[in-house]
Amino acid sequence: MTAQCISLMVNKNDIHKCAARPVPRLTAVDLQDGEVLLEIDHFAFTANNITYATLGERLGYWDFFPAQEPWGQVPVWGFADVSASRHPDIKEGTRVYGYLPMTEQLRVQPGDITASSFTDLAPHRSHLALAYNQYQFTAADPAYKPELEALQMLLRPLLLTSFLLDDFLYDNNYFDAEQIILTSASSKTALGLAFMLSHQRQSRNSTPQRIVALTSEGNAEFVSGLGYYDHTIAYDQLDQLDSDVPSVLIDFAGNGTVLAALHQQLDKNLKYSSLVGAAHWDQRKGEKNLPGAKPEVFFAPGYWAKRNKELGTAELMGRFANLWAPLAKSVNSWIEIKTIEGTEAMLQTYLDTLNGLIKPETGMIMRTHSK
Ligand SMILES: NC(=O)c1ccc[n+]([C@@H]2O[C@H](COP(=O)([O-])OP(=O)(O)OC[C@H]3O[C@@H](n4cnc5c(N)ncnc54)[C@H](OP(=O)(O)O)[C@@H]3O)[C@@H](O)[C@H]2O)c1
Repeated sequence: MTAQCISLMVNKNDIHKCAARPVPRLTAVDLQDGEVLLEIDHFAFTANNITYATLGERLGYWDFFPAQEPWGQVPVWGFADVSASRHPDIKEGTRVYGYLPMTEQLRVQPGDITASSFTDLAPHRSHLALAYNQYQFTAADPAYKPELEALQMLLRPLLLTSFLLDDFLYDNNYFDAEQIILTSASSKTALGLAFMLSHQRQSRNSTPQRIVALTSEGNAEFVSGLGYYDHTIAYDQLDQLDSDVPSVLIDFAGNGTVLAALHQQLDKNLKYSSLVGAAHWDQRKGEKNLPGAKPEVFFAPGYWAKRNKELGTAELMGRFANLWAPLAKSVNSWIEIKTIEGTEAMLQTYLDTLNGLIKPETGMIMRTHSK
């Protein structure tokens, strides 16, 4: 009988439907010249991965790891080891960090190999953003520490976005706003941005006075207790928001009703409105013609490519490293990492994340098999 792996698949037509489906287990004999087999160790799972599924069709997230229709494999960030290699420059046992499917193995075609990374040149991924196709060698990553793998895979992809948003706002002089309002303020990406804005307030004279959190009533106490925001408001208390000052809105919730209410309330005082996330993925419908600044989509890999061209990778990563260190220290003081193993627990975690049942202080790490 052929050995099998379990892959967590999601029905692309209804993301409430998920299943653990068997796929054939590959070995070295299944590889073509130039191919490498990755054995997936563990990966993180947050609302961001649910957004990959929600926008899978529109933004191509289903294209990374194709599956038999109607199934799709949700991409995750995690660690894997090279278990077999038919590439002369990639050795067995090499550990990498990158974009993976929720299963046990991934076959890749390494190319553009540097001291720090390779790119999967598989044709079905060639139209997708480079940031998602690159795999970093842990041995060559100066920031890598084995004991911090959980924090890295949970936070690095999210906090890179926080960092780019912070850079974007600063580069635009905060659109001359006096307050910055963040929705889904309890999400890790929003918390990262709030930390960066407040952390740099001293060194940047132009930083707006007030950083405002909008969150669910149940998450308000946690959010305000962190001290990253100046003011925390629940979604049903929007009347507490000061609408009389120039404001910027950074929307991680993607909730059509909340977005419309904020545009109507702030009106001409809304100087910039950025659509970053869709954490409230099932509440996205809303009005299109809103008062105030026209909402603009922020796509982190696109902005990274722009800044990379302008500043170079070393300068950009240096700036990120300066913020990562204090932020990781702060996050370490409150985050509760929870590691789960096995398909039943993975399916449950997927559904709990989909249904917004994971506490914001929890960081979920998954492993398909027991170690
Ligand atoms: N544009 C980009 O390039 C980019 C990059 C990174 C992240 N993002 C987006 O930012 C968003 C946040 O991602 P994350 O991984 O940081 O999130 P996370 O830490 O997992 O966020 C959890 C929070 O999201 C809200 N939430 C999650 N699921 C919900 C549900 N089903 N119903 C209602 N609220 C729910 C809740 O916040 P509240 O109670 O505070 O609303 C919850 O505390 C995602 O949509 C992600 O895709 C975008």
